[in-house]
Amino acid sequence: MNDQSRKIFRTSQLEEADGPGLNPTDKRTMGDIIAARFSRRAFLRGSMAATAITATVSPLAILAAGDAQAQGAVEGSAFNFPEVLAGVDADHHVAEGYDADVLLRWGDKVFADAPEFDPLNQSEAAQERQFGYNNDFVGFIPLDGADDHGLLVVNHEYTNEHLMFPGIVTLKDGEIEVAAGTEDRVNIEMAAHGGTVIEIRKVDGKWQPVLDSKLNRRITAKTAMQLSGPAAGHARLQTVADPSGTEVFGTINNCAGGVTPWGTYIMAEENIHGYFTGTLPEGHAEAQNYERMGIPEGSYDWGNFHDRFDLSKEPNEPNRFGWVVEVDVMDPTSKPKKRTALGRFKHEGAESVVAKDGRVVFYLGDDERFDYVYKFVTAGKFDPDNRAANMDLLDEGTLYVARFDEDGGLQWLPLVHGEGPLTAENGFASQADILIETRRAADLLEATPMDRPEDIQPNPQTGRAYVMLTNNTKREEANAANPRIENAFGHIIELVEQDGDFAATTGTWEVLVQCGDPSIAEVGATFSTATTENGWFGMPDNCAVDADGRLWVSTDGNSPSDTGRTDGLWALDTEGAARGTSRLFYRVPVGAEMCGPCPTPDMSTFFVAVQHPGDGGDDWEGHGRPSYYEDLSTRWPDFNDALPVRPSVVAITKQGGGKIG
Ligand code: FEO
Ligand code: CA
Ligand code: CA
Ligand code: CA
Repeated sequence: MNDQSRKIFRTSQLEEADGPGLNPTDKRTMGDIIAARFSRRAFLRGSMAATAITATVSPLAILAAGDAQAQGAVEGSAFNFPEVLAGVDADHHVAEGYDADVLLRWGDKVFADAPEFDPLNQSEAAQERQFGYNNDFVGFIPLDGADDHGLLVVNHEYTNEHLMFPGIVTLKDGEIEVAAGTEDRVNIEMAAHGGTVIEIRKVDGKWQPVLDSKLNRRITAKTAMQLSGPAAGHARLQTVADPSGTEVFGTINNCAGGVTPWGTYIMAEENIHGYFTGTLPEGHAEAQNYERMGIPEGSYDWGNFHDRFDLSKEPNEPNRFGWVVEVDVMDPTSKPKKRTALGRFKHEGAESVVAKDGRVVFYLGDDERFDYVYKFVTAGKFDPDNRAANMDLLDEGTLYVARFDEDGGLQWLPLVHGEGPLTAENGFASQADILIETRRAADLLEATPMDRPEDIQPNPQTGRAYVMLTNNTKREEANAANPRIENAFGHIIELVEQDGDFAATTGTWEVLVQCGDPSIAEVGATFSTATTENGWFGMPDNCAVDADGRLWVSTDGNSPSDTGRTDGLWALDTEGAARGTSRLFYRVPVGAEMCGPCPTPDMSTFFVAVQHPGDGGDDWEGHGRPSYYEDLSTRWPDFNDALPVRPSVVAITKQGGGKIG
């Protein structure tokens, strides 16, 4: 990397690039290491892995499996739809009998007076009025209790400059190099981040945005926000621009999120390290803290034009990111609040559920190799009849980190100042220090290092929750909850809270499924035998539990060379004889990741987010070379030579109406 160009940024690449994970807590004995190396399978590594795995996924085999099993339900399954055939092409595909309609694309108007999308003349002012880039989390907040009218809330996680902007890519040795960002480009990138709140309504069976709604809102990397909770105002959060330590601009890398029981929108700040450049002053007190978070990673040029992203100028600014952000969607002028009580790490999402006693529980994943699963339990109780009374529930409560015991026991360890090792002796002068350096506090409590915790979804009907663990190929020591050394395809853990009480501090756990191709014994996948060649997947990421308590899983990282298929949305049985059976319901175009999945309460619509379509295609026979603005692997969803590929939210409905799946 030099100052004229930088490598393309993509979350998954960034996560791949960060070496063996950032958690230095490693208690392996030499015997463990030797045992691990001895059992490692060479075929899973490097290009040999790609050859071995793709060789098993012949298109003919997929077709044959499709013919045999695509029709009809699996015995005991909660799902009944004709399965989509797994594969790779330029378009998206949904199960037969369903419509997948593009609802909102990058650049679409969010306000009636917004300019038309013009990719050759994009501006910050236009982007601030248009739908942002790389839609990830999608939430639906019904208005007037209706299933055909509500607010759609959507995160815009990050930007892919090589797909967004013309004339900035050069190919060097077959690799994409992106020109350094100009000030205008950086400001467009910042405006394409954040989130969108937009009113939508079903008209004649099809969803439409309501562009003149007073509730529509764009949130960006510049939106004024408030830090609240125990760490707000702390000296470590103070900057030259904000000596109060309470006023921060913007939110970045909002991956998944949540909708609270009181109807606010949660945006989780995940890979914040990529945005910071520069070096800390010599001997700065935050050096260890930032090293644990991988800061600075320097994937963006924002620090060249905005001092707060340059560590040499605003050394405390990174402490103002990595939080969970709450947005009051009913007041578009309200300041979003960064809720410090939920800790600071690479927050994947924050899905919530009301516990038996009325307290509210938020499940939180820290998406890094060897990092942890958390939950937050509010001190106060949810009042369903008084929305205003719930608006600051997230400022007080207890943050716990999970220890998965070898015997299947689950312990939630409180991150509370003064308890156990969380004292001044270990550098925690107050609860604020614990929240700012949550990872280090959790290390000291000996939480279980996981294979990249992503979305965690409670099932209110059963008292259980599902943890997506996306992958980890850097592990040298297995533990019971992360049993594969070479976990290229990830797994899903089912948490069973004690007595079905989500606020419990103990429980049990079980691996629901180890992912990957079940036909390759060495992969160790454990889908049920009723799962077809189309039905298995790798790299679980986001998930949803629908009103019937059924689990849906979306993926990040399936590709022609890894799994012979694109990412998609899979229906995964969790109950009875069909438990562990997976079926493919929807798949994305080449290069994309599947995000969002959000069913409406009546299950008549499934909103899904197609993120970074066209980001890739080198390993797909339909393209076979780098994909960038001038030479895209797909121009989904418009397929218009004058328009680039566009990340979009898609509304899936059943033809003729009715419940999905
Ligand atoms: Fe942004 Fe952890 O996926
Ligand atoms: Ca994710
Ligand atoms: Ca979810
Ligand atoms: Ca991911």
